[in-house]
Amino acid sequence: MRKNMIAGNWKMNTTLSEGLALAKGLNEALKDKTLKCNVVIGTPLTHLASVVAAIDTTKIGVAAQNCADKEKGAYTGEVSAAMIASTGAKYVILGHSERRQYYHETAEILKTKVIQALANGLTPIFCIGEVLKEREDGRHFDIVDEQIKASLFDLSPEDFGKLTIAYEPVWAIGTGKTATAEQAQEIHAHIRQTIATQYGATLAENTTILYGGSMNAENAKDLVAKPDVDGGLIGGASLSVEKFLPIVEAF
Ligand code: PGA
Repeated sequence: MRKNMIAGNWKMNTTLSEGLALAKGLNEALKDKTLKCNVVIGTPLTHLASVVAAIDTTKIGVAAQNCADKEKGAYTGEVSAAMIASTGAKYVILGHSERRQYYHETAEILKTKVIQALANGLTPIFCIGEVLKEREDGRHFDIVDEQIKASLFDLSPEDFGKLTIAYEPVWAIGTGKTATAEQAQEIHAHIRQTIATQYGATLAENTTILYGGSMNAENAKDLVAKPDVDGGLIGGASLSVEKFLPIVEAF
């Protein structure tokens, strides 16, 4: 059975002390609650070890937002999957549209990042999604298929089974313009079918597929009520406990 998940993506926000305060605040808010989903927070790399030490990681998983595509060595400024795993973080967000767009991460680079993450026991939260023009041209189904195939379909079924997928239409990220629950359901079902074609129906049924893009307290319930929407990847609304908590409680 696939697990539901609400994951926060803090992006390049919060200093270390601000991030610690946010993580501790969430930890406190969730302390006595029985959760119906996995909760994950994606902090800046500089915060990982401190955040892991400050919260109950059996309740809140910690994610990096990127990792290197190389194992180790002379790659100044890069942070490897092994380094991330050594902080106690268990997840890594890969393939976010901002990484693809601003840092030119190709399908091939992302493929190697996924391999590095898996080799070091991290769960990739792998992002896919079309830009506005592609949706307007009716190409969104083809685009997500291409993204999945190019970066993920060389994985063994065993490794593919370790992934979480996040569908994030680029036109909905940070814009306040959410996909409707119907649009999300339609493409999530399509993504699951694409996975089934390659890996079989059981593995597809067991794959967690998150929606991301201006998800908030108001629209979360409708989105996660859809059968193929297993949770969310939350940017802006993950930066305050007051906004994030109702999303966690949307299940
Ligand atoms: P948003 O970001 O919730 O601010 O739209 C989502 C994301 O980029 O993961």
